[in-house]
This record gives sequence, structure tokens and C-alpha cells, in this order.
Amino acid sequence: MAKHSYEALKARCDASGQAQLLSDWGALSEAERAALAADLEAIDFDFVASALKASLAAPTAAASGGEARPAEGVLRLDGPGAPSEAARAGWRAAGLRLIAEGRAAVLLLAGGQGTRLGSAAPKGCYDIGLPSRKSLFALQAERLLSLQRLAAASAAAGAGAGSGAGGGAGGGAGGGAAKPLMWYVMTSKFTHDETLAHFRDNDYFGLSPGQVFFFQQGFLPCLTEGGQVILEAPSKVAKAPDGNGGLYRALRDGGALADMTKRGVEALDVYCVDNALARVGDPEFLGACWSGGAEVGARVLAKAHPEEKVGVFASDGEGRLQVLEYSELDPEKASATDPATGTLFFNWSNVCMHYFSLPWLARTVEALSGPGAAYHIARKAIPSKGGKVPGIKLEMFIFDPFPTAARTTLFEVARADHFAPVKNAPGADSDTPAAARAAVLAQGARWAAAAGAEIEGGCLGLEIPPALSYAGEGLGKLLGGKPVAAPGPWLLKADGTLMSG
Ligand code: UTP
Repeated sequence: MAKHSYEALKARCDASGQAQLLSDWGALSEAERAALAADLEAIDFDFVASALKASLAAPTAAASGGEARPAEGVLRLDGPGAPSEAARAGWRAAGLRLIAEGRAAVLLLAGGQGTRLGSAAPKGCYDIGLPSRKSLFALQAERLLSLQRLAAASAAAGAGAGSGAGGGAGGGAGGGAAKPLMWYVMTSKFTHDETLAHFRDNDYFGLSPGQVFFFQQGFLPCLTEGGQVILEAPSKVAKAPDGNGGLYRALRDGGALADMTKRGVEALDVYCVDNALARVGDPEFLGACWSGGAEVGARVLAKAHPEEKVGVFASDGEGRLQVLEYSELDPEKASATDPATGTLFFNWSNVCMHYFSLPWLARTVEALSGPGAAYHIARKAIPSKGGKVPGIKLEMFIFDPFPTAARTTLFEVARADHFAPVKNAPGADSDTPAAARAAVLAQGARWAAAAGAEIEGGCLGLEIPPALSYAGEGLGKLLGGKPVAAPGPWLLKADGTLMSG
């Protein structure tokens, strides 16, 4: 490195109170100096200092949990007050119209390290052992293709037929011409290269490369309690991903928000990579949020049991939407039941299936990309050049800014059709690849039975490729009257034959 650039680096570090970062400079090789300089140049010290200050000053989780009230106005699947079939059909039509018109897009969070799953590859490349051996990315891409096809068909059928029930999504998609459904994929340093290679090696699973927009989430340096940046090695800064709430900064820095704006995207369906049943871009949910004028929405599940370790939606002291982590809700509150309905007061679990309106998103990105954004402080032992030292990692959660939404929609969905998490390594007690595989096969068997197939008792189920059916539709001609023998599992082929898995 040229002398003058070292001096510039030194001046920056000194001015930011980070002189310790260059204390080994004299002993470093040229390559090491270049590596350290690159690491330091990538850090916005002012941003880091203001983030730490704001994070230390932010109210603690326990304080916010104490004032929380149950979330209200959830659109229920059934029971008194549940939306009618006609309302649901109207939402679905509105959602399909938004998609066909290119006004809705899908955003995938795929930057996590997948530590618990223990696979070296990104989670999206994981094969949960279905008969097709497809990866999670492949399943999601095929579902997106199917949805795009449904939206185009709906636009073609609806051209000239008026705006239909549910309203709010504006006029028709112009004679059935439908735009490609954009898929924004957030990766991280840990997952980016392999994710791209997986898409390329599989010809984008039939999608057009132009409809997939990759962008990377950022990192923040690990800090001492006093705000000093920690060195992992004499020439390397200790860094950590900024959490799935790093999305907001990444949307700006990676150009994805600008791309959405340029294309006229108005609504976004957001989900996590590790859900084998992710109903990508669910038009009914999109339509419900849109029609209700929501800035933020979420598909929610009823809690499986009071002690389930999931975050729940709640209303904060000022009536704003928030997510409480299970550790923030005392056990008594977590198990309290509403005597009128028999359901838990804090019943609606957050499974990270969200809706964002673009105006809210743009506002939020602006607010969280600049100085003063507060992060969660995780106090951890940080590997450093002098061994492990106590330090701080700053992380944001995607739901942190939800209280700023003026209008929100919570939309109940059925666990068996929407949620099969792949969190833990094979052999764990819950959320394993095997459990997700069983959920996908069971859903296929339910869809097949509804389409008229005769499922033999004891059958292990049926994989229905998402490219053939998005949510169970269009299967009558392939499966009507067809016997599906035990044990299986089976894979449905496009010509209607069943292949043993
Ligand atoms: P999780 O925290 O449940 O999964 O993230 P993980 O980080 O992949 O796995 P562990 O915790 O290390 O075992 C939920 C979703 O948020 C994304 C993940 O990719 C997943 O879709 N995520 C998480 C990010 O995109 N970035 C992050 O920094 C963290």
C-alpha cells in the first residue's frame, strides 16, 4: 500500500478512536496490509459508532414484553368472523392481478449461515430427500413459475371481465399479457457464490435469469463493550452478519429497492429459504394485505402449544404491531387462554412470511440505513488475535421496524399447507429435513385425494412437483381415479405416471 494511503487510513482510524486496528501494521506483509486496508475501508466507523450508541440506549426486550397485549383483528381460517369464501376468492383474484401486472414481487431471505442444520452448502441448496431430490431453491423456483402461469391465465381469462370482487388492485392486465414475477434473493458472504452457482448449474430452474435479482446483506464489525473494533487476526477484522433485518440496508446498498421502484413494484411477499412448504407469493395473502391497505402483513400460524419456542405477534403499549420472542414473554402470559374463545391470548406465531408495501419499505430502508438505527446486542465470546474475548455482535431482526406500520394485516394459514421448517440437522427432535419431507409428501397425498386419487392406507405420500401444481389445482386429469399404493413414497410425473421414490 502506498505511504499516503496508509496515512489516510491512520488518520481515519485515529479520528474514529480505532487506532488499535493499525498497531501491528509494521509487522504485516504487503498482502496482509492490503487485506487489512480492504477490511477497514469497508467499515463506516461513524455508522458503527452511532449504531452501537443507539443499540445500547434502546429499550430492553423485557421492558417491551411487559406492556404487550394480544394481537387483534387476525383474519382467521374458520370459526366466527372468518372471511367468506367469496372474500377469499376476491383476494386471490386481486393477488393474481397484482402479479400479472408486475406490481407484486417476491423476496427471499437466504443469507443465514444454517449453523444448526450443519450443511456446508447454503440451506437453499439442501436436498431434504424427496423422491425428486430437488433442493429447496428448486422447489421454490418451480412454485414461482407455477404462480406466474396462474397469474397469466387469470389475466387472460379476466381480460375485459372487470376488476372482480376484492378490488383494490386496479384494472386488468391488458388482454392477458402478464409480466414475469420478479424474485429478489438476498444472500450473504456465506451463501452468495454457491447460491449463484446452484442457480446457474440448474438453468435457473426454468426461470428467466432476468427475473432473479441477487443482492448481498452486509456485515458489521464485532466490538468491545467500549466500541472498539476487534481484530480476528492482525490483518483481519472480526465481522458478523447484521441479521435478517440487515435486509433493509442491503436493499439500498445492493440496488434491489431501486430496481423494484423502477419496475413499478408496489407490494412484496417476503419469506425464508428454510421452509419446504413456502407458498411463495401466496396470491390470497397478497390480495388480502393489498385490499386492506396494509403497510406490513404477516401470514401467521396458531401456536402448536403454549410452550412452543416461537416468537408471537402482539400489540405494543401504543397499539402497534410487534413480535415478541419467546424469551420476552413470561410463561404465565404465554399460557393464558381467552375464556371466550379457548385460544391462547398470545396465539399467533411469527414464521417469517411477510408482506411489505413499497412506500413503507422505502421509508424503512431510509430510516434504517442511516445513522441512529438500533440493533440487538448479542454478547458473545469473539475469536480475536489474542484468543477469545468478550464482545458484542450487532444484529437487526426483520420485524424490528414493524411498529412503524400504520396499517397491518395478520392472516392465519394452515400449518400443514404453509410451514415445514428445515432448521436442525438430521436426527434432532424437531424441524428436521425428515419432518419437512414428510410434510411435503403428506400435502401431496391430500391434494391427490382431493383430485380423486385412491390413496392406499399406509402410503408414505406423494411428491407433486410445484411446477405441476401451485396449491393443489389442476390435478384431476393426472390423478383422478388413480390408485396410489402403499408404501411409496411416489413422485408424480408430468404425464401422470407415478415413479417410486
Ligand atoms: P435462521 O436464523 O432461522 O436460520 O434464519 P439460519 O441463520 O440460516 O440458521 P442458524 O440460526 O445459523 O442455524 C431465518 C431466515 O433468515 C435468513 C435465513 O437464511 C433464513 O431464511 N437469514 C438469517 C438471513 O438472510 N440473514 C441472516 O443474517 C440471518
